Amino acid sequence: MVEAMKAIRFAQHGEPSRVLETEDLPVPEPAEGQVRVRVLATPVNPSDLLYVRGYYAGVQARFPARVGFEGVGVVDALGPGVKDLTSGQRLSVVNGQGGNWAEYAVVPAGDLFPVPDGIPDEQVASFVINPASVILMVRRLLAVPRGEWLLQSAAGSELGRMVIRLAKRDGFRTVNIVRRRESVAELEALGADAVIVSTEGPIDEQVRATVGPEGVKYAIDPVVGETGTQMFRALHEDGRMLVYGSLTGEPIRVGEDPRYILAGRRIVEVFWLGYWLPRLTDAERRQLREDIVALMREGTIETSPGRKYSLDEIGEAVVQAEQKGRQGKVFLVPGK
Ligand SMILES: NC(=O)c1ccc[n+]([C@@H]2O[C@H](COP(=O)([O-])OP(=O)(O)OC[C@H]3O[C@@H](n4cnc5c(N)ncnc54)[C@H](OP(=O)(O)O)[C@@H]3O)[C@@H](O)[C@H]2O)c1
Repeated sequence: MVEAMKAIRFAQHGEPSRVLETEDLPVPEPAEGQVRVRVLATPVNPSDLLYVRGYYAGVQARFPARVGFEGVGVVDALGPGVKDLTSGQRLSVVNGQGGNWAEYAVVPAGDLFPVPDGIPDEQVASFVINPASVILMVRRLLAVPRGEWLLQSAAGSELGRMVIRLAKRDGFRTVNIVRRRESVAELEALGADAVIVSTEGPIDEQVRATVGPEGVKYAIDPVVGETGTQMFRALHEDGRMLVYGSLTGEPIRVGEDPRYILAGRRIVEVFWLGYWLPRLTDAERRQLREDIVALMREGTIETSPGRKYSLDEIGEAVVQAEQKGRQGKVFLVPGK
């Protein structure tokens, strides 16, 4: 029985490359209803880095705090009362308190998603956060009808690429905002119907030139700031925009131009997966899992694997994860 493990922790909020430390800690024991998993791979997601910086309001860090909300692992030990899981079974591991950036993690059994064989580890490692957000935002909350336009920013992100492929499959059209011209051809090859470069002219004007003068009815934005502000102005009078990230950390301004607030009924709404997942019924949760598996099998929902790092290389990994123009998702591989 292994008694010690490597894990990443931080003792205060700050720049991830400075505050994150690789430490030797005791292997945790699963309590009632919990499962210990041996972590095979765990992504470096924007939410992990927001959490380390202290900007992730949904989860409060208790110092010294563990990190890593998502990953793939195998069942290592079951706590009392846990049934229906077997030792060695591979699972998608959602760790709501953070702690997957480690060789072992302990999580409630209900936060594990068994995934069928045949789906690669990197896909299982990113099984929930981006895929579930895409499905809930686009299919459930906005329910974008066939033929309609969906406007999205940060379209070259892993999540944005999933949206583009889902649009092809479900029959709606995407108008995609990127910050670099180099992303345009790549996204068009993926199936983007239109790609706008945010630095090449006002976004609202570029969007209306594409979708028509009335504007767009559906939008999703993780960039906020000037991009979110101009996306708001690109909305149709009945338009609805889900804000689901804070990549610039700057405000969206909705009130400065009366043309967009003293007319119509534009809705700007927050989307956070941590709010929606616990509100799903068991049947909805099962359906979501089945939908993700089906969309992964056909390649609609897919994460491109980027560089892989050991836990000892955490400083390099977090810097690489935020490189402009980075290709593929950065993973930590605890056994590397
Ligand atoms: N609310 C929720 O529940 C929820 C759930 C899942 C994901 N998210 C959010 O979804 C977003 C995408 O996640 P991901 O894992 O797909 O990310 P990712 O693969 O790391 O991609 C990040 C993308 O954002 C772009 N970007 C970064 N900083 C930017 C800035 N200041 N201005 C404009 N674009 C910028 C990058 O553009 P370049 O290609 O030009 O470098 C890159 O394409 C993140 O904001 C994340 O927090 C939210």
